[in-house]
Order: sequence, then C-alpha cells, then structure tokens
Amino acid sequence: MTTAKYDIVIFGATSFVGQILVGYMMQEYGANSQLKWAIAGRSQEKLDEVKVKYNAQEIDLILANASNEAELTNMVKQTRVIVSTVGPYALYGEPLVKVCVETGTDYCDLTGEIQWYKRMVDRYEKSAQKTGARIVHCSGFDSIPSDLGVLFLQDKAKDVFGETCQKVKMRVANLKGGASGGTIASMVNIAKEAAKDSNLRKELKNPYSICPENHGFKSRQDNVSTAEFDEEFDCWVGPFVMGVVNTRVVHRSNALLNNGYHSNFYYDEAMMMGKGRKGKSRARNMAWGLNIFMLLAAIKPSRWLLERFILLKPGQGPTEEEQLKGYFKMQFIGITESGKKIKTQVTGDRDPGYGSTAKMLAQAAVRLSEVNKSEKAGGFWTPASIYGEPLINKLVEHSGLSFEVLESE
Ligand SMILES: NC(=O)c1ccc[n+]([C@@H]2O[C@H](COP(=O)([O-])OP(=O)(O)OC[C@H]3O[C@@H](n4cnc5c(N)ncnc54)[C@H](OP(=O)(O)O)[C@@H]3O)[C@@H](O)[C@H]2O)c1
Repeated sequence: MTTAKYDIVIFGATSFVGQILVGYMMQEYGANSQLKWAIAGRSQEKLDEVKVKYNAQEIDLILANASNEAELTNMVKQTRVIVSTVGPYALYGEPLVKVCVETGTDYCDLTGEIQWYKRMVDRYEKSAQKTGARIVHCSGFDSIPSDLGVLFLQDKAKDVFGETCQKVKMRVANLKGGASGGTIASMVNIAKEAAKDSNLRKELKNPYSICPENHGFKSRQDNVSTAEFDEEFDCWVGPFVMGVVNTRVVHRSNALLNNGYHSNFYYDEAMMMGKGRKGKSRARNMAWGLNIFMLLAAIKPSRWLLERFILLKPGQGPTEEEQLKGYFKMQFIGITESGKKIKTQVTGDRDPGYGSTAKMLAQAAVRLSEVNKSEKAGGFWTPASIYGEPLINKLVEHSGLSFEVLESE
C-alpha cells in the first residue's frame, strides 16, 4: 500500500452533487477521523465557499483544472482514491482518467455516459492493468442500486435455491427526485454525440457494449422502450431513463465475475406505471416523453432552445427540502433455469440523483480505499465486481439504503 497523504480526494467539490458529498463526509467522518480526505477543484474562491458552507475549514484543498495534466498529476499523487464529480465526463473527464491510470491511482465517479465509459475502457484498460489503477465508473444512482441489487439477488438465490437466476428484471416501483443541470447536460451531450455518429448509435443499442472482448454472451436482450404489460409484476411498465446504462453495467459485472450470474444471462429494467387504463396511459406518456426529449436534444435548434429556456443549468438541482423528501424503491424478480423465483427490493431514503447518490459515492470511495490491490488488480471494474457485499453493508449502515428479500418460492 502506498503512503499517500490522503485516502480520498473529492475532485469537483463545488459541483451540485460534490457539495452534498462534502456535507455528508463532514457529517460522517469530520475533519479529524482516521480517514484522511481533501477537496479539490479549479476555483480557490468557490472551494473556500464550500468549506465555509459545511464548516470544513480544517479540510485541505487542492487546486487543479480538469484540462491541465500537470495539475491533475500533482493532485492524484497525493491520494489513494480520487472521486470525481466533474462532468459531463465526456467533455471534461478523460485527462483525469489518463493520469490516474498512468500513476496507478484508484478512481471512481458518477458517469452515466456509457459511450464515454466504453471509450475509456478501449483507451486505458491495458495500461490500468499494468499500473494497478482501479477505475470504477457509475458509482452513483446509476448504477449502484441496479448492479448491487442484482448481486444481492443472485447471492440470495444461491443461498436459498443453490443456483443463480438466469433471468432478472428490475422495475422501479417508486421514485421521487429531480435532475440537476449537470445530469441534464450529460444527457444532452449523449444525444448530441449520437446524432453525429452512426457507429455510436449502433453501439448504444448493443447491450454488451462495455463487456470485455470475447465475452461470448449471445442471449437476446429486450429493451422496454414502449408501454408494455408486465405479467410478472402484474402492471404496465414504461422505459426507465437509466436502463440503458444500468443494463450494460450489470452485463459487464456478470462478465467480470466470470459469468457468475449465468452464461446466458438476461436482464432488463423498466418503470412500473400502475394497472388498468391509467397505468397504460402513464406508460405511454413516459415512452413518448423520453423519445421526444432525446429527439429535441439531438437537433441543434431545439437543443439550443431547451438549453436556453427550459432545462436547468449546470450547478442547479433539487432544493435541500426536495432532496430530503425524495426516495426510491426498486424491485427485482429473478427466475432460475429450473423455474424457481425470488423477489427482492432495494430502497433509498433521499432523492436518488443527489441526496442518495452523494452518500453512495462517498461509501463507494471508502470501500475502494479498502480493497486490496492483490485481491482486485488494475483495470476497469464495476460496482458489483469490485465493491461487492461489503459495500451493500456500508450502504445499509451509513447511506440510508435497504436490500431485502420479499419472496422466494
Ligand atoms: N450517476 C448518477 O447517479 C449521477 C447523479 C448526479 C450527477 N451525475 C453526474 O455527475 C456530474 C456532476 O453533476 P452536477 O450536477 O453536480 O454538476 P455541476 O453542478 O454542473 O458541476 C460541474 C463541476 O465540474 C467542475 N468543472 C467544470 N469544468 C472544470 C474544469 N475545467 N476543471 C475543474 N473543474 C471543472 C465545476 O467546477 P466550478 O464549480 O469551478 O465551475 C463543478 O464542480 C454530471 O456529469 C452528472 O451527469 C450522475
């Protein structure tokens, strides 16, 4: 283990989600705990404001610009784990991943930009394997509840039935919480990149796009993109906006866990919309709304109008009260090859995208700082494949999440 000055440095401590993260770290660890942490960003003035806001004057501060490799290298050399909330990652994130890989520094972030994830794996995985850097994207609402939710379900299925589930469906039963400007900027950027690049559009449709080469998975994966009636959950379902990201991460986890779920594994995600006509019409509206948003975001003039007049700007997001009132409930049904069925649930106690994400990311970083390099070598890992069950326990103890079995038969 290296003797870096800090265990964790939070890069982007001034972002909407970064500030909540700093507040959580102060509450959970404070300035004088065994865990040594610091904050970082490009603006001394803004970082000082964050320190005052959270009474974090004793926390050290590092200045670095996301586009300056020398400053980034100076920052990452001082820590064992770097947490980044500087996004959209496809616009600002690559230099930091590069220097973490070069210096063998562990890294986690909140990206849900799957096209950027793939680009980073293609460019840096081989070097990370050599230097020992563990890079863990998607360590927030996308994709921790989905990825660890599937791991939890499979572990329970093994305990109860002695076999894993070949097929798993996740349905969002309830969710309350708004998006932030940073998340919207990331979604708009995906639509913009996809509009220009037909290869990317093709890649975004591939459920195994971030699986390692030669993964060998052939199982056809359905995508809930319109209103559908779900027999297993007995309700109408519509598309879940994070499904494209989460499903890819879950398949990569299966591959990195040596096909630990199944070699013919099926996984999909959707949102429960209720029963009867009302449920059907809500599911339809959800599908239409999402398609229209992506279409408007892909076309230059309508994108300009959306960005200028309708969408939140970077740095904006749900109020503290909205974060406190937010929550999420996700249910999973898994079916084994021999037909046995298990139903599980994951819940969170704050708005998923910010209040809860910040707590998940903080505990993910703490967990990453504990994972021995001899246990997990350098490379691009997923939440389930590197954080595993110990993170589930931390999230339950410190982050307001619950993981439970509802039924098994
Ligand atoms: N996966 C999830 O569940 C999830 C949830 C929430 C957010 N996210 C993602 O997390 C990211 C942050 O979201 P947000 O809403 O918190 O973003 P935000 O408020 O817009 O903040 C962006 C951050 O990036 C920093 N930044 C921009 N350019 C920089 C540069 N050249 N050098 C250094 N720092 C720079 C900003 O610093 P200044 O303050 O100095 O401008 C700010 O700290 C987004 O990509 C979003 O999509 C994901």
